[in-house]
Amino acid sequence: MDIKACIFDLDGVIVDTAKYHYLAWSELAENLGFSFTEQQNEQLKGVSRVESLEILLKIGKLHFDEKTKIQLADKKNKRYVEFISQMTPDEILPGVIDFLDELKRHNIKTALGSASKNAIMILEKIDMLNYFDTVIDGTKVSKAKPDPEVFLKGAEALNIASENCIVFEDAYAGIDAAKNAGMKSVGIGSKANLPNADIVIGHFLDFGLSKLKDSFKDK
Ligand code: BG6
Ligand code: MG
Repeated sequence: MDIKACIFDLDGVIVDTAKYHYLAWSELAENLGFSFTEQQNEQLKGVSRVESLEILLKIGKLHFDEKTKIQLADKKNKRYVEFISQMTPDEILPGVIDFLDELKRHNIKTALGSASKNAIMILEKIDMLNYFDTVIDGTKVSKAKPDPEVFLKGAEALNIASENCIVFEDAYAGIDAAKNAGMKSVGIGSKANLPNADIVIGHFLDFGLSKLKDSFKDK
């Protein structure tokens, strides 16, 4: 394939905010009287805040009315915002900036495609607000991953066809969203958690444009 754009998820790809989401959700679960494991948390990755709450409540076998659910989601978000308000550029995951700079040098467009409504705050904290050619976040989409909306809007803003885009994702739902958008994907994490990704890497260290091109030359 001819790679013209790379679209990056934020949480778990650019920064390890997945751990803060997990901490905030597990605190909420504990308050509600059940425990929530890291393996169960895989189901929440890439999923919107409200849908994450639904999954969490299913795990805890709990039912609440809509008003209470909004309060619970707000409570989790307040805790999460406490964590991310302390973030610094040191929390950008290793190798990310070098890879993004390499893409820029080779005129490959970059987009952020995140389900998070806190994406702009995180980008500000890590000094990356102006790093991507376009940012599509949870405030700009109505359909959550695995719906392809977030990536399709990213490609549209860049004016690049889906077949020329590669998505970088750490979430099962995000890899499926890429597939649903007609895009190839690089999973960040393990093959066991991301079986549908075209290729999987553990991190961006030792990864660069030549490895990317090589991996996708026949795809
Ligand atoms: C995704 C995360 O990026 O954003 C999910 O992987 C999270 O875990 C979702 O639920 C929504 O984030 P926020 O910040 O709007 O609650
Ligand atoms: Mg993610």
